[in-house]
Amino acid sequence: MCGIVGYIGDREAQDILVKGLSRLEYRGYDSAGIAIVNGHLGVRKKEGKIARLSEDLRGNGLSGKLGIGHTRWATHGPPNDLNAHPHVSTDGSFALVHNGIIENYTSLRDMLSERGYRFVSQTDTEVLVRLIEDVVAQTGLTLGKAVRQALSQVKGTYGIALVSTEDPDMLIAARKGSPLILGVGENEYFLGSDAAPIVEYTRKVVYLNDGELVIVRRRGFKVFSVDDVKLKKTIHELEWDLEQIEKGGYEHFMLKEIMEQPSALEDAMRGRLYTEEPFVQLGGLLDSLDQLRSADRIILCACGTSWHAALVGEYLVEAWARIPVEVEYASEFRYRNPILRQGDAVLVVSQSGETADTLAAVREAQRQGIPVYGICNTVGSTIARETEAGVYLHAGPEIGVASTKAFTAQVTILAQLALALAKDRSLEPTELSRIVAELKAIPSRITEVLETADAVEQIAKTFRYASNFLYLGRGVNFPVALEGALKLKEISYIHAEGYPAAEMKHGPIALIDRFMPVVFIAMKDSTYEKVVSNIEEVVARDGVVIVVTDAEEGELDHLCEHVIRIPKTHEMLSPLLTVVPLQLLSYHIAVLRGCDVDQPRNLAKSVTVE
Ligand code: AGP
Repeated sequence: MCGIVGYIGDREAQDILVKGLSRLEYRGYDSAGIAIVNGHLGVRKKEGKIARLSEDLRGNGLSGKLGIGHTRWATHGPPNDLNAHPHVSTDGSFALVHNGIIENYTSLRDMLSERGYRFVSQTDTEVLVRLIEDVVAQTGLTLGKAVRQALSQVKGTYGIALVSTEDPDMLIAARKGSPLILGVGENEYFLGSDAAPIVEYTRKVVYLNDGELVIVRRRGFKVFSVDDVKLKKTIHELEWDLEQIEKGGYEHFMLKEIMEQPSALEDAMRGRLYTEEPFVQLGGLLDSLDQLRSADRIILCACGTSWHAALVGEYLVEAWARIPVEVEYASEFRYRNPILRQGDAVLVVSQSGETADTLAAVREAQRQGIPVYGICNTVGSTIARETEAGVYLHAGPEIGVASTKAFTAQVTILAQLALALAKDRSLEPTELSRIVAELKAIPSRITEVLETADAVEQIAKTFRYASNFLYLGRGVNFPVALEGALKLKEISYIHAEGYPAAEMKHGPIALIDRFMPVVFIAMKDSTYEKVVSNIEEVVARDGVVIVVTDAEEGELDHLCEHVIRIPKTHEMLSPLLTVVPLQLLSYHIAVLRGCDVDQPRNLAKSVTVE
């Protein structure tokens, strides 16, 4: 996700825009730029954080009282000066910034190229700029109406702002799927992706809704609906202070990112998952799918939480595509002189795309002549650039060191890949359709799971002083047991181990007593009865059980002290739901223990050392 700001009024715009962008930097920091109208269009944009843009402007700034700004979280096109926003019309008369994903940008770009338009960047946003130009050229519409017309041809999501030299008293903004707020001042207005860049100047705000377009002038603004009907909008009073707003009102980025998972997974499926043919279309792997489909073996390499996501991926690909999968710690893979053969394919999973061990695994596989693909969240990251091809999560920046939405987004991408590999091969069309429908429904199921947050917080109060935890799950939920244990360890500093539930009787059961909380994942799937037996073995030894389950009321309540009930879904997709209460449990225990949740001791968000 990116950050957008805008200003129209009687003050110099530059400092307002740059400070506003710094307030939105948590939304993305791959590149930043501003455009200011002052008779002509002044544009400055730089790869990297906002500090670099500020440096570039120092002593050589842009004057003017109307402008827009953007801080980028790259989705299409790596972070560099050319792909940075704002993007400018061919004649230099207007500039535009965009937050979102234009799903049909390829077809639009082809159409516009045939009409002679040229593109200087690799972004989907520039396609929108050329489309607006084309609408003006074809129809002679005013810019505001041309923007509306152009947006009607766009599939996907957008939050945009636009300024033009043709009207120095006009700021245009529109939204569909990406937030935009208008701050109302005295003969001046402030635009922001959220209230963080606005609250310093005014607490009066107007919230734009999806499909709405606003024309802002110094003496007032007009909001129009999708079908160009003028709307009456309410001016609200902001209640948050700045600190809260940058975290979207949450106390920590980790909680914000846990709560963002429904929208993050929608973005991970946007333009990729369809309820009818072709069902799955992973653009970045289109040319590599045959090679992956024909692989004798797929080796998944990753570290930490990404390794847990890869373990879930192993179950999904083997269950649906019947291709043998091995999952390797990247740090082990790179040092053990792995035996790779022609017919192998390596797929690495990394949120940051910069993890040194995972990057080394890429290079080791490439040294042996094996094709390597990547699943990353950070566009233009080293791993994304060095792998032959890959898929981006589109989960937006993950600031909290403990990975949450990246894990579920990685599993979502791996599920889509498993379906793409399975299509026309090893999955009955009816089963494929059922899985696709269930995957499409996952974001709303997670929203339901998030409603257990208060109950989980109450459970956390019971265990804030625990010294050890066991996490147990079977099948596709065994990796979730590992992930739940890692979450607790890394932010609350409580020792925790994850195990396959059946493994408990081969040793760990010796640990069970009243002081060893045991978290079970017991979904009503093919392993349920066996897991219930494991629960009984723990309870018989005075163990205290917390269970995450979709069982009915009363089924496990007599056995387990704490039951966290979640919705049902397809067995193989259940990790996307069962992990959420475990994320919340670790979060609340850590908060109760006074730990630094977003920046736990000894950890870093991206481990770029070996
Ligand atoms: C997860 O919560 C940790 N922050 C850590 O294990 C992380 O998953 C691991 O370092 C891998 O990072 P990557 O996905 O960016 O490669």
